[in-house]
Amino acid sequence: MEAKKASQSITIMTELVLPNDTNVFGNLMGGRLMYWMDIAAALSAQKHCNAPVVTASVDNISFENPIKLGNVVHIEAKITRAFNSSMEVHMKVWGEDLTQQYKYKSNEAYYTFVALDPNRKPRVVPQLVTETEEEKKLFDGALRRRQLRLILGGKMKPDDAAELKALFVKD
Ligand SMILES: CC(C)(COP(=O)(O)OP(=O)(O)OC[C@H]1O[C@@H](n2cnc3c(N)ncnc32)[C@H](O)[C@@H]1OP(=O)(O)O)[C@@H](O)C(=O)NCCC(=O)NCCS
Repeated sequence: MEAKKASQSITIMTELVLPNDTNVFGNLMGGRLMYWMDIAAALSAQKHCNAPVVTASVDNISFENPIKLGNVVHIEAKITRAFNSSMEVHMKVWGEDLTQQYKYKSNEAYYTFVALDPNRKPRVVPQLVTETEEEKKLFDGALRRRQLRLILGGKMKPDDAAELKALFVKD
């Protein structure tokens, strides 16, 4: 299976915040944003593996700035690393006020997807080739993030998280 470049998975989604997307303060609801992010990230993962994917986990999301009614939402998703059947997707989210002409960061997040075969079993995905410094940095950190989320998800024993332990334990 041929490895693919991170840039091949780039997915950009643009949405307009309408009244039905907002909370009582007139800001975009977090749940709606996470729904759009899930779709953008899934498309990015599918571009990488060319197979159906399911969301395996969503890392913590902190909303730095509210996105207002009538503003535009920009979501940029890209694969940071492919493992065996799973892929980590990194997303950056901005709001934009087109009338006042300014763009502001809303949040960043990592979602993990697993590619499935026709029997709905996890299937192998292509490895990832990084090109830029930022892609290399995200690739390196992905192993630690993976171990942390697998521990939190009850899929890995803390004792087996060698990458994470190396951060805290000195020889
Ligand atoms: C995600 C899912 C396919 C994993 O299946 P599984 O039978 O547990 O498979 P495995 O334990 O063999 O793990 C398969 C891959 O999933 C990854 N995985 C499993 N749980 C994970 C979690 N909580 N977070 C991140 N990755 C996870 C494993 O690390 C493994 O990745 P790898 O092959 O790259 O090493 C399965 O749990 C599932 O279908 N979940 C529901 C998905 C869904 O419906 N999502 C929408 C939300 S409702």
